[in-house]
Amino acid sequence: MHNEEFSFVHLTDIHVIDAESAKLVERAFREIHNLRPLPDFVVIGGDFVENGTQEEFDSFLPVFEKLQIPAYTLCGNHDLVDGIDPTLYQRIFGDLCYAFDHKGYRCIMLDTTHRDYETYSWHGYIRPEAINWLRGELSRLSGDHPILLFTHHGLVGSREDLSCDVENSDEVLALLDGYHLIAGFAGHAHRLRCNKWNRVPFFVNTALSTTRTNPGGEPHGFFVVSLREGEVSVDYHLLSKA
Ligand SMILES: [Fe+2]
Ligand SMILES: [Fe+2]
Repeated sequence: MHNEEFSFVHLTDIHVIDAESAKLVERAFREIHNLRPLPDFVVIGGDFVENGTQEEFDSFLPVFEKLQIPAYTLCGNHDLVDGIDPTLYQRIFGDLCYAFDHKGYRCIMLDTTHRDYETYSWHGYIRPEAINWLRGELSRLSGDHPILLFTHHGLVGSREDLSCDVENSDEVLALLDGYHLIAGFAGHAHRLRCNKWNRVPFFVNTALSTTRTNPGGEPHGFFVVSLREGEVSVDYHLLSKA
């Protein structure tokens, strides 16, 4: 299978609360626009806001409109209204689970927000509808079709550092077994990690936020991900000082 070379940006966990806290993201977008080669798209991995309110989303959207390359988004646990309701996120950004093709890769955006219980849980869980959606999505792919997988909560690694924070991650990984997964990308843990599953790297990104710190002390940055001949490489691009 012929795969063209390209790059994209993964940034996540911006936790915007007001116009001031959106400025860091605006700086990141400016730096993304200056990257050469220009990335083909940006993935924003969820936790756009802190409390899932309209006011918080309204603080981010004017900045989002300035982004000059395509963006693909995921819903984070902080984006749910009252911790359980995704409809505001869906109204702004669209479907919770979806997939798109890019230069020979199938990019799978899998929702991990936990909404099956009455009470809010900030941990991840893949609901039965999302599992069924993924099963259907994979059934249309041949075993050698390269896949990039994006989730808010991480699927692989340690539960202590939240690099894995999906209750039924094993169920999802079992479905992916036998497919040509190139890499997984997540946020939520606010830490830099790379854990392997079946020799596939699962990258976890930091919070690009002034309202949330990275517990490991990582400076603000985002991933620049390059795909070349079916191989993935990831650079952590440090945001320059304001
Ligand atoms: Fe977060
Ligand atoms: Fe989160």
